[in-house]
Amino acid sequence: MSLFERQPLSDSALRCLSYMSDVETHTVCYLRDLLVTPSHADPEVTVFLTMWNLEEYWHGEVLDEVLERHGIRTGPEHTRAVRSRLGRSDRLAPIRQSLLANLIGEDFVATHMAWGAINEWCAHSAYTRLIRSENHPVLTEILRRIAKQETRHVAFYNSQARERLQRSKKARRIARLALSLGWGIVGSTIMPPAEVKHMLTYLYGGEHGLAEAHKIDAKIDALPGQQGLRLVEKELVKYGVQ
Ligand SMILES: [Fe+2]
Ligand SMILES: [Fe+2]
Repeated sequence: MSLFERQPLSDSALRCLSYMSDVETHTVCYLRDLLVTPSHADPEVTVFLTMWNLEEYWHGEVLDEVLERHGIRTGPEHTRAVRSRLGRSDRLAPIRQSLLANLIGEDFVATHMAWGAINEWCAHSAYTRLIRSENHPVLTEILRRIAKQETRHVAFYNSQARERLQRSKKARRIARLALSLGWGIVGSTIMPPAEVKHMLTYLYGGEHGLAEAHKIDAKIDALPGQQGLRLVEKELVKYGVQ
């Protein structure tokens, strides 16, 4: 990766990569909140989550390596700081999630899978946008490999979500309600609003960014019972990007 010394990444790209790395590294904490729900009882889902957690951890590690090459400190101390700044809401998250999800029961798994599919579409799109905007040969190769794994994550979540939403009207209603009330762009629950805004502006500013957001929203529209939510577009408006 010595090319980074001769041809370093832009400050905006590095700030964006820091965001992505913090979010990827947080996956094990997201997993904590998911294993207290009915999803833990489904063996296919838990096998997937095990691999997913490992791959997302690897994404964080690789991005950290890129950041380190640019003199940006990463590692356990940084990760500890990211986790501790979340405070009480983070400590209560597994309790809240467990109560809500277990009240809903088996149908909760469909919401989990739909939410996962949407987040993975967003992750894949964000890496693809970053490849395009930075156009750096080494970064492109790294992000292509990561995006390939995000595609596999999409495949699992999407097929599970479709099947589960298709077979239960209650699951479709709950997913729609949860997504419209609770979904925010990937990382927005753990990253400061200024970082979310920077990431969205850098990757989705302008006409092309809006067109990309519409592409993700169209994929969400194809999930049973989730038409017209316009989740990604609404986030761009919320953060003043569009
Ligand atoms: Fe990832
Ligand atoms: Fe992923």
